[in-house]
Amino acid sequence: MSFETLLLEKQDGIATVTLNRPNKRNAMNPRLHEEMTVALEQLRYDNEARVVVITGSGPAFCAGMDLKEFFSDLKSKPAEYDRITRLAVEWRGRTLRYFPKPTIAMINGFCFGGAFSIVEGCDLAIAAEEATFGLSEVNFKLFPGGSVSKSLANLLRPRDALWYGMTGRPFDGKRAAEIGFINVAVPLAKLREETMNVARELAGKDPFALKATKDGYRHSLEMTWDAAMSYSSAKEMELVVQQNDAWRTEGIGDFLKGKYRPGLESHDKVHKG
Ligand code: ACO
Repeated sequence: MSFETLLLEKQDGIATVTLNRPNKRNAMNPRLHEEMTVALEQLRYDNEARVVVITGSGPAFCAGMDLKEFFSDLKSKPAEYDRITRLAVEWRGRTLRYFPKPTIAMINGFCFGGAFSIVEGCDLAIAAEEATFGLSEVNFKLFPGGSVSKSLANLLRPRDALWYGMTGRPFDGKRAAEIGFINVAVPLAKLREETMNVARELAGKDPFALKATKDGYRHSLEMTWDAAMSYSSAKEMELVVQQNDAWRTEGIGDFLKGKYRPGLESHDKVHKG
């Protein structure tokens, strides 16, 4: 599939997916959902992609669902509306959430409605201080539908979720960081550099350990304490097999030989994912 709505670049183990409909503020039309589904499937198995960054071209990160091509044009096509809804929910809510590699949302500008589920689905999020966020649905008489309400429930404090969901008031990147919707806000001029620094840092760590970190956190959220303990010890043994025991022999072994201090630095031998 050649992409109409996305740009895909790879450098130094970091794949950057750019939503590329700048004239429509990167609103997610049906084609974009189809293409993201394919792109993420490719990146999942691409050994050159150790970390995935998602961003937008032009002045927007993503203006949410395409209000014309999705809500309006598909109004009288219920089967197609259902098919696209399923794709739209799946790539943000499940594929990204459980993606086997680290994912970073790099929010360069407008971020509305359905775009909140992209941000929430990514492991980390870095935004421009100048970016504008908003749960604009209520402003056009809808509510945060699809996967968005669940994203709010997953990530925001109840007061913030309802405040922004009910008022529809826009807020900037600094505020998004204050309420914990993103990790950090930096000036737009520094956004790419700061994000790539974090991406390179992650690309330099053991991919199996990173995946286990994600899995442990995300799955534990939905488990009882007993199930989480059982999952965690099974995961530990999975790592032993995947890394040929490297976390003990190399990771702990080299510390015990006095070669490095894991409290302050990462082991320098990186295994291929
Ligand atoms: N769906 C479809 N088209 C869109 C969307 C969208 N979500 N957002 C912007 N566009 C289109 C506009 O229709 C316009 O197209 P045109 O040039 O062919 O007329 C173009 O993008 C540029 O939009 P402007 O409004 O002219 O750009 P501006 O920079 O002034 O404003 C902004 C950008 C703030 C994003 C504004 O377009 C807007 O409010 N968009 C709607 C945001 C929104 O409510 N998204 C839906 C969230 S709900 C959900 O995702 C379920």
